[in-house]
Amino acid sequence: MTGHNLMLVVGARPQFIKSAPVIEELLRRHKRINLSIVHSGQHYDPDMSTIFFHELRMPKPSFNLHAGSGSHAAQTAAIMKGLERSISTTKPDLVVVPGDTNTTLAAALTAAKLQIPVAHIEAGLRSGDFTMPEEINRVLTDHCSILNFAPTRTAVRNLRAEGLSGSIRFTGDTMVDALKAVTPEVKARERSILAQFGAQAFAYVLVTLHRPSNVDDLHRLKEIQHALRKVAMRLKVIFLVHPRTRSRLAKLGRPATSMKESLILTQPQGYIETLALLKNARCLLTDSGGMQKEAFLLHVPCVTLRNTTEWPETLVGNANRLITNPKNIPSLVFRVALNENLRDRIGKLKNPFGDGHASARIAKLIEDTTVMH
Ligand code: UD1
Repeated sequence: MTGHNLMLVVGARPQFIKSAPVIEELLRRHKRINLSIVHSGQHYDPDMSTIFFHELRMPKPSFNLHAGSGSHAAQTAAIMKGLERSISTTKPDLVVVPGDTNTTLAAALTAAKLQIPVAHIEAGLRSGDFTMPEEINRVLTDHCSILNFAPTRTAVRNLRAEGLSGSIRFTGDTMVDALKAVTPEVKARERSILAQFGAQAFAYVLVTLHRPSNVDDLHRLKEIQHALRKVAMRLKVIFLVHPRTRSRLAKLGRPATSMKESLILTQPQGYIETLALLKNARCLLTDSGGMQKEAFLLHVPCVTLRNTTEWPETLVGNANRLITNPKNIPSLVFRVALNENLRDRIGKLKNPFGDGHASARIAKLIEDTTVMH
């Protein structure tokens, strides 16, 4: 095959979103690159995987490793074993990994051990909390990579502090590009999406929770549910239930779906649907990394049920507030949601996540590096 071989490894929901604009740039403007996409199979439910390939018009992966679920070691090892075979077949000049999932770390380690250079999209994020599996994945992946694409100035500083200066490329955040790309479609469909949930704009709280620290401890999960019921007494709640949370709710003998008018529990939604629901929410309650940032970009006040964040930029002006005790959810959510000026104030804050051209910069740097090797 002529040209230069590039392998992009994805596997979990946020990675599909972060990669889509980079894939588009590569396919449109960098014809010398032969791109192969590997799907690790870490996320496999259609509403956690296929829907994103469809909505973001991404090409079908060349390989699916079907790694599925398991303990961290089992999942990471399954991806590594499968990927070693795909790399041996494809012989890439560069392996690109986005984000901070087990797929990210497995791919970075496998490639580095096979002496294939690695590039990391969304490098340099740190929450400082090593009890999060993602924090371990971030640090190790950055240290395996010859190119670290940093989304923010904070990320650049974090990488420098770990002695990785030579690998840093300050690009901006590809999630800004992804959001920009689908904004017209979100606008066109938001009214009908809200209608599906019987929701009025700015009259509900959107909820997503899936971190092990929140949902694996069933006592804590019960407290969270209790808090959500209290919130729903005054403000409609729409809770998009992640598969991990669904399985923990099942252990409690609680349903993961309910269309009760004031407290809706539903399956995870696609990207367009989620953004439409977020854009029109009075407030977001989440433990997701990406959604804290999307809320900021859409000027939606956010409450994050965690004691740290890898996106400290979102804390400016109380656009995002960290909270640890589920008992405090109702009072803080009411305070944030009923603050009439907060949305306008967030709209006036400086956007530290980039200009929407991160993917073009990354694609160019990838081509330059791939051609060099
Ligand atoms: C992963 C990432 C996290 C990311 C999140 C987004 C790691 C360590 N974590 O967490 O960084 O924010 O994805 O969603 O990689 N499951 C299904 N169907 C699926 C996927 C998962 O039923 O399509 C179930 C499995 O039973 C599994 C649980 O959900 O036990 C959690 O899946 P896992 O792959 O560990 O990742 P997430 O918790 O989603």
